[in-house]
Amino acid sequence: MPAELVCFDPACRARYPVTQAIYTCERCGGLLETAYAWPADVSAWPALWRQRRTHNAAIDQSGVWRYREVIPFLDGEEPLVTLREGNTPLLPAPRAASYAGLDALSFKHQGFNPTGSFKDNGMTCGVAQALRLGMQRVACVSTGNTSASMAAYASAAGLEPLIFIPYGNIAYGKLAQALEYGARTFQVEANFDQILALVRKLAERLGIYLLNSINPFRIEGQKTIMVEMLDQRDWRVPDWVVLPGGNLGNTSAFGKGLRELLALGLIGRLPRLAVIQAEGAAPFYDLMRQSAPGALRAVEHPETLATAIKIGDPVSWPKARQEVDASGGVVERVSEQEIADAKAVIGQCGIGCEPASAATLAGIRKLVAAGTMRPDADVVAVLTGHVLKDPDYIYRYHTGQLEAPDGTRLAGAFANQPLVAPHDAERLAAMIG
Ligand code: F0G
Repeated sequence: MPAELVCFDPACRARYPVTQAIYTCERCGGLLETAYAWPADVSAWPALWRQRRTHNAAIDQSGVWRYREVIPFLDGEEPLVTLREGNTPLLPAPRAASYAGLDALSFKHQGFNPTGSFKDNGMTCGVAQALRLGMQRVACVSTGNTSASMAAYASAAGLEPLIFIPYGNIAYGKLAQALEYGARTFQVEANFDQILALVRKLAERLGIYLLNSINPFRIEGQKTIMVEMLDQRDWRVPDWVVLPGGNLGNTSAFGKGLRELLALGLIGRLPRLAVIQAEGAAPFYDLMRQSAPGALRAVEHPETLATAIKIGDPVSWPKARQEVDASGGVVERVSEQEIADAKAVIGQCGIGCEPASAATLAGIRKLVAAGTMRPDADVVAVLTGHVLKDPDYIYRYHTGQLEAPDGTRLAGAFANQPLVAPHDAERLAAMIG
């Protein structure tokens, strides 16, 4: 099926072959997206996808490539590297629902991916494209999860991974993964936005393939999170899909995927997207509150303990704005305290997630309280990362030591202190009660 790269800017729409290694439009500098000539009748796809779940072939076991009909950017001959990404569960969470004021809520938990975040869905596609282009070195700037994922997939593919992270500002679980998966890791003394600008120039100069979410093939893989979610729900469309927003690649991916499914006739309407940002890093929230359409104004010094979304100048904002608007969606922002408490509640459901992911539940609670989301709404929230990505945060919260970036001590409303106990059966029995 013919695939092309197309400039996302409606005033430009310049087209490029998918075999060209570019990330932005050569004519206007706009973002690029893949476009396909879809077949007329796709009604057989859902049954085919369901059937593939029972197959042992790697390409069918992958929760991304199983849906390869919706991401047809390869010619079919190219090598793929899959770590069996996707296949993430949709978990009902009654306790979280009642915390938020909803009758029901389920979490699509992307932390169940091979490297523990939703980045794996996109990375398997990004790395397939790198292989197709004959690249040897791949690079990314990351708040942690992209780098963990890229390190794993690049190493599995025999490519050399180069990682650039903000020094001292990523969770240890993620840094540890990058090292363990064998990436050359540069801890740069700057923030995410500054490093991204730097590495975009470096990548061009050194002929390194960039695997940030500006890469349109990453976005293709992340689309399948929505396809798998709908497959799991037997194609019943939820009222809302809620996700955290950082660099806004995932918002762009979900929106594109859902719009394509609608155009193909596989769903009859779009769910509304609710994007949640941390208060100290909420440039997209500010943009969407503006009455007149304008450009995003970057937050120069973004601050949040949810380091995954500590981004002040998100690259994909033009796409994300269109997707939120097209879905009749909203953008909300939440405080450090709200994130911390929501995260503990998700933990109490026996589910758990990393801080950025918990912004979803905190945001839902606010949206329900404001009357934007009805209590009986059918809501799917996407938990983007695994609970063990940031154990330091968890320990501090439960022991009353968690401090917001401005130095305020965060109250652990759901704190679960570990107890120091004597080596004595009687006294222990008395403590247990
Ligand atoms: N949640 C987690 C756990 C993330 O790691 C990220 C992004 C997001 C949410 C936000 O997604 O950028 O698509 O809006 N992490 C990137 C990284 C930036 O480098 O790992 P987004």
